[in-house]
Amino acid sequence: MSADPAAPTRLSMAPGVMTLTKETAQSFNEHYATSMQRMFAAVSDLYAEYWNDFFHFAIFPKGNESWDDAFAFTHAKYLKALDIPNAYKVLELACGRGGFSNIMAQHTKGTVLGIDISGAQLSHAKRHEAKNLSFKQYDVMKVDQLGETFDAVAYMAAACYLPDKAKAVSAISRVVKKGGVSFSSIGASRRG
Ligand SMILES: C[S@@+](CC[C@H](N)C(=O)[O-])C[C@H]1O[C@@H](n2cnc3c(N)ncnc32)[C@H](O)[C@@H]1O
Repeated sequence: MSADPAAPTRLSMAPGVMTLTKETAQSFNEHYATSMQRMFAAVSDLYAEYWNDFFHFAIFPKGNESWDDAFAFTHAKYLKALDIPNAYKVLELACGRGGFSNIMAQHTKGTVLGIDISGAQLSHAKRHEAKNLSFKQYDVMKVDQLGETFDAVAYMAAACYLPDKAKAVSAISRVVKKGGVSFSSIGASRRG
């Protein structure tokens, strides 16, 4: 994807306060693709080092377990909802560093494709190697132009970055096969 030279580089600043104006929001939406690529190019390595493979929240059913245990619990729930053991094709939208795509690839007989708009995020994702797993730089807003449909579509912790949610839902609905599953998570409370 080519960089957009007209993309905004900073938010408007009022004295002592950072203000997201209507104009800035509109400008962000017009240039979201480049802005997302820039933003995640800046933070991807840091998150990889100090967080982990996942860039979403976890459920802590007991409240005092480790992050690893909480993620294992959370992902088991998500896998159950997705019901992918016998799926042919599975898609993760905005897959980030690919941790959950990799988990899904281990739990299905089918193939898993992870798409993300950020090359920086995907450069981390590509270290996950499995015969049935692939990654592609692609925009969720245009996912219906991929020319493919999927038995299950997972989407986590990325809805807030999309410029037009209704348009995104419409595009996503077109890539879910009839009878397929679409799963989206925005956050997770401490007790699920
Ligand atoms: C908070 S991270 C979540 C990553 C992953 N879903 C996870 O839970 O680990 C948000 C991701 O959304 C991606 N993203 C934002 N807007 C996107 C778009 N329009 N199309 C594809 N990916 C997008 C970013 O590049 C980033 O990797």
